[in-house]
Amino acid sequence: MKEYTGKIYNIEKLTHDTTKVVIESALDSAHSGQFISVLCENRTLRRPFSISDFEKIENNKSLLTILVKIKGKGTEFLSNLKINDEISILAPLGNGFSIKEEASLLVGAGIGIAPMLFLKKELNKQNINNYLIAGFRDDKEIIKGYDEVTIGGSVVDRLEDLIKEKNIKIVYACGPEIVLKLIGKLCKKLNIKSQLAMEKVMACGIGVCRGCVIKIKKNETISTASICKDGPVFSGNEIIWEENE
Ligand SMILES: Cc1cc2nc3c(=O)[nH]c(=O)nc-3n(C[C@H](O)[C@H](O)[C@H](O)COP(=O)(O)OP(=O)(O)OC[C@H]3O[C@@H](n4cnc5c(N)ncnc54)[C@H](O)[C@@H]3O)c2cc1C
Ligand code: FES
Repeated sequence: MKEYTGKIYNIEKLTHDTTKVVIESALDSAHSGQFISVLCENRTLRRPFSISDFEKIENNKSLLTILVKIKGKGTEFLSNLKINDEISILAPLGNGFSIKEEASLLVGAGIGIAPMLFLKKELNKQNINNYLIAGFRDDKEIIKGYDEVTIGGSVVDRLEDLIKEKNIKIVYACGPEIVLKLIGKLCKKLNIKSQLAMEKVMACGIGVCRGCVIKIKKNETISTASICKDGPVFSGNEIIWEENE
């Protein structure tokens, strides 16, 4: 992880509150599920964003894409940037998805679609059979043009049928915790693997403040893990959801 100066290469409004921001920098590599942390104007705390695409271009430069949904001042600042504006980014952060060569279902709920687009690209490159679905709260939230099935409501209701229909062996998902919890539990019930990209409000973003800690269980041992450094991707079978605490 390093600090880079990112130059806005392109910026495009996707919906009424979501913007695609393409950043040129000297970042050398990135994997799906990893994220960047952006200094938004003069705010002290950086804001985390999943990497939605990454490609190397000429002269040791690369382009990375994030999708920004407006929540407050930081995301508003990013959504209003102009081409050639400069921002400071820390990248790449966290541990991304661990790709398995098995029939894969990718689930993006809301802005959770962002890392799924990058994962899909990586799976396609490796010719791994995959299927992406996205769910949005209502029609005006729908980010068009990417997914094979866009559902205007909950993605979870459709999952069990899709998993059986497509003979899915692993589910990768990103979205609000409540959705990930349902997906993790469904996969456990159906005895298939899941990798879930978790989100929590973050302070330091680099594993120091312990503000983003969750409980996990590995080999029968319960411990804590920080989403920003140990995650954000965890196996659905490892996460101890809040109701169990
Ligand atoms: C690992 C990770 C990846 C993320 N990827 C993306 C992404 O690809 N695209 C994207 O648009 N957003 C993403 N987020 C969420 C994004 O970081 C926040 O929306 C952003 O930091 C809000 O900053 P702000 O200054 O605009 O709002 P603030 O003024 O900081 O907050 C406004 C409101 O949003 C809430 N909020 C802040 N952070 C989060 C959060 N993480 N989850 C839910 N609510 C939050 C606050 O509690 C508050 O109510 C990600 C978060 C994490 C932890
Ligand atoms: S945000 Fe500080 S440890 Fe994760």
